[in-house]
Amino acid sequence: MIVAPSILSVDFSRLGDEIKAVEDCGVKWLHLDVMDGHFVPNLTYGRPVIKNIRLLSSLLLDVHLMISEPEKLLQDFLDAGADLITIHYEATQKIADIIGIIQKSGKKIGISIKPNTPVESIKNFLDKIDLVLIMSVEPGWGGQKFMPEMLEKVKKLKSWRENNPENYHYLIEIDGGINDKNILDVKNSGVDVVVAGSYIFKSDNYKKAISSLHL
Ligand code: DX5
Ligand code: ZN
Repeated sequence: MIVAPSILSVDFSRLGDEIKAVEDCGVKWLHLDVMDGHFVPNLTYGRPVIKNIRLLSSLLLDVHLMISEPEKLLQDFLDAGADLITIHYEATQKIADIIGIIQKSGKKIGISIKPNTPVESIKNFLDKIDLVLIMSVEPGWGGQKFMPEMLEKVKKLKSWRENNPENYHYLIEIDGGINDKNILDVKNSGVDVVVAGSYIFKSDNYKKAISSLHL
């Protein structure tokens, strides 16, 4: 299981130290939530912050774009040093173009779906992408309650991949409400990458929290 700490719940005045702290716990990925106050009601950070994180860390930067029409800002995030860019299916009409641009740049592309979006909606893109991000909360905030019914989507994705290994190579990532209580069910459903924000950064022992997710 890959663990991708989400910095959404860190003390941003100590961002560099917090990233170093999870890096010292052995994580390989860092999950960065970009929100535009439009696709989701909340607003977070963008290119300058990601660019600075890139300068201080060699972790895989997993950039989760919760923004409308991500095609308009794609180049910014590629230039900032994202390794993997995940866009929302619900946020754009230009998914095929976006896949082309990101692949041309040599970076990885993911598609995310909100809880009310069926996983069948993205079936036509699955042979072209590196990752599917299943939201297990409504995107917008950290610290919400995990929606266990989202694991049905994970199971479908896993079985589609198993039945079509020549065409499908996507990783399955889940985001929202992950903790030590649900990680076993999450793992058993077929998830490859878990995002965890408040469970890690609100704990008093990051190493313990992270290792409880590395099943
Ligand atoms: C929510 C974000 C998540 C968030 C997860 O819209 O996409 O990445 O940080 O936070 P927790 O783990 O606290 O649910
Ligand atoms: Zn996220």
